[in-house]
Amino acid sequence: MTQSTARPAAAAGTFDIGGDLTVNRLGYGAMQLTGPGIWGVPSDPDEAVRVLRRAVELGVTLIDTADSYGPFVSEDLIAKALAPYPDDLLIATKGGLTRHGPDIWLPVGRPEYLRQCVEMSLRRLGLERIGLYQLHRIDPQVPLEDQVGVLAEMQAEGKIAHIGLSEVSVAQIEAARVIAPIATVQNLYNLTERGSQEVLEYCEGNGIGFIPWFPLATGELARPGSVLASAAADHGASAAQLALAWLLHRSPVVLPIPGTSSTAHLEENLGAAEIGLSGEEVDRLTALA
Ligand SMILES: NC(=O)c1ccc[n+]([C@@H]2O[C@H](COP(=O)([O-])OP(=O)(O)OC[C@H]3O[C@@H](n4cnc5c(N)ncnc54)[C@H](OP(=O)(O)O)[C@@H]3O)[C@@H](O)[C@H]2O)c1
Repeated sequence: MTQSTARPAAAAGTFDIGGDLTVNRLGYGAMQLTGPGIWGVPSDPDEAVRVLRRAVELGVTLIDTADSYGPFVSEDLIAKALAPYPDDLLIATKGGLTRHGPDIWLPVGRPEYLRQCVEMSLRRLGLERIGLYQLHRIDPQVPLEDQVGVLAEMQAEGKIAHIGLSEVSVAQIEAARVIAPIATVQNLYNLTERGSQEVLEYCEGNGIGFIPWFPLATGELARPGSVLASAAADHGASAAQLALAWLLHRSPVVLPIPGTSSTAHLEENLGAAEIGLSGEEVDRLTALA
């Protein structure tokens, strides 16, 4: 299926993050714009810039990133490609994971470190306020009230508009909501990995945006011969498009952020917003995995 409109991402409909930041529901995840192991610069930085600019042209208004992607590489590329930013673009970043090498991610949630994370993301992105700031992981060695508490302080100072969490249980979301309003939760979730179903339902019940990471199961759902291949052919769509359309139809609070380092894949993926699925079709796809 090819795109039929100039801004296909808009066909996904919108969600109001924190009740007041409206984004098109199909976004873009900027983690793949780095070197291997999410470490260092990408092999083709010019293509990374093109991907970011094309995403915005095609109607993406939610870009997910983190200081730890590279580290810093993804945020730097976003600033290079897109600043000064369009008014309707929300850059959602994260902090709280340190990097010591390719594929190594270690949480540090001490409040003085998280404060520095926010300050440095503001500087790298060239923003005065971060629209959505997500605690990348809860650090089990630091009290939750200190971690969410410092983000709430920075929200009160006007440096963060809304606070999100990542890889959390319902109990952890509830504990965090005692400290500050939680606008979004970002957990692993896709057609074949639905361990966060209960969290998604909690988010839906509480008006919290649910951002499923690995929406394509890191490409597994997009490859030829994937579990979706035959259903995709029936729909005249690609497997990647069907995986994303399934997510968009799963709940109105779901905000998928498929990642890619290629403009061709980006264009294909955003076509998913234009695929209509009936309730029965969603159920049939759900039963595939
Ligand atoms: N909160 C967290 O802890 C956490 C963890 C992981 C990720 N995330 C976020 O979630 C976002 C999405 O995750 P992800 O990018 O790792 O995984 P993903 O979106 O599930 O899949 C991305 C992979 O699929 C490939 N791909 C994308 N579109 C394709 C297409 N149309 N056809 C074939 N292959 C395709 C990409 O390769 P190409 O580059 O070749 O297209 C890439 O290898 C990240 O960018 C990041 O923002 C968050």
